[in-house]
Amino acid sequence: MPPPRIVRIAAELRACCDQVRAAGGAAPAVGFVPTMGALHAGHLALVQAARKRARFVVVSIFVNPTQFGPGEDLSRYPRDLDGDLAKLASVGVDLVFAPDGGELYRPGDETRVRVGSLAEPLCGARRPGHFEGVATVVTKLLDVVGPCVALFGKKDYQQLLVVRRVARDLFLPVQIEGHPIVREADGLAMSSRNAYLSPEERIRALSIVRGLDAAARLFAAGERRVHELERVARTPVDAVATSVDYAEVRDADTLAPCSGTVGDRALLAVACWIGGTRLIDNVVLGEDPAPGP
Ligand code: PAJ
Repeated sequence: MPPPRIVRIAAELRACCDQVRAAGGAAPAVGFVPTMGALHAGHLALVQAARKRARFVVVSIFVNPTQFGPGEDLSRYPRDLDGDLAKLASVGVDLVFAPDGGELYRPGDETRVRVGSLAEPLCGARRPGHFEGVATVVTKLLDVVGPCVALFGKKDYQQLLVVRRVARDLFLPVQIEGHPIVREADGLAMSSRNAYLSPEERIRALSIVRGLDAAARLFAAGERRVHELERVARTPVDAVATSVDYAEVRDADTLAPCSGTVGDRALLAVACWIGGTRLIDNVVLGEDPAPGP
């Protein structure tokens, strides 16, 4: 497949996408996958899904500073543009948008997109400002790309809900689609941050999927007590994690807390630290298969 065209200027990206749409054909013409690079098979699955949905596939690579809090891993976040471009060429991408920070946040930039209640619990509570940064950069990117189908992974389940809400509330002319979590053969959810893990930490990280898998099996067997599902998910993580940010059952659409018993569909989400690495994972009980190997 030919290597993707690399664009660094927002106006040029907009012109390319406008041109593709003007050429007509079945909608959506443009498929868009926003990323922060350090690409793995999870990202590439989103790209392949975009390929199936649209004629022209755009991937953005931008480590967005506004979604990292002070003391988080912005400066050490893995960056490998050449490696990323080779991977994208192998799956067939038409355009890679790789702006520098000054292109998306121009001098004097001060507009931010603040989402309401969906951005507050779970990662929102642990990473103040994170979803404001995500919502802001995704709004900028979707605005420049224009009408498209945009794909987001369910690995970042709360992010997917936040982005859907932004698109709806701001009348963005885009279709937001969620993609199932792509896992390693042993069940670990793929993440650019897995690169931080030592071999010993990589083994400890498996406790996350082990807990989610056990809870999903229990749910499938009829367990509906929130406390019990959370306990089963949390137990293996508690045993080996450096700390646990949350292991919680929530309403899968609103992220409202659940107490007592759940219905036939609910989100079970986990975030924890393995050494200096923060990992997240989830399963939608009643919808996703048990995530273990
Ligand atoms: P990043 O972490 O690079 O992820 C880019 C996209 O890939 C997101 O939609 C994420 O959910 C998806 N993804 C990551 N790992 C996945 C996996 N194992 N299975 C399925 N999908 C997976 O998420 C971001 O970047 C940023 O917040 C961004 C949306 C680009 C805004 O800066």
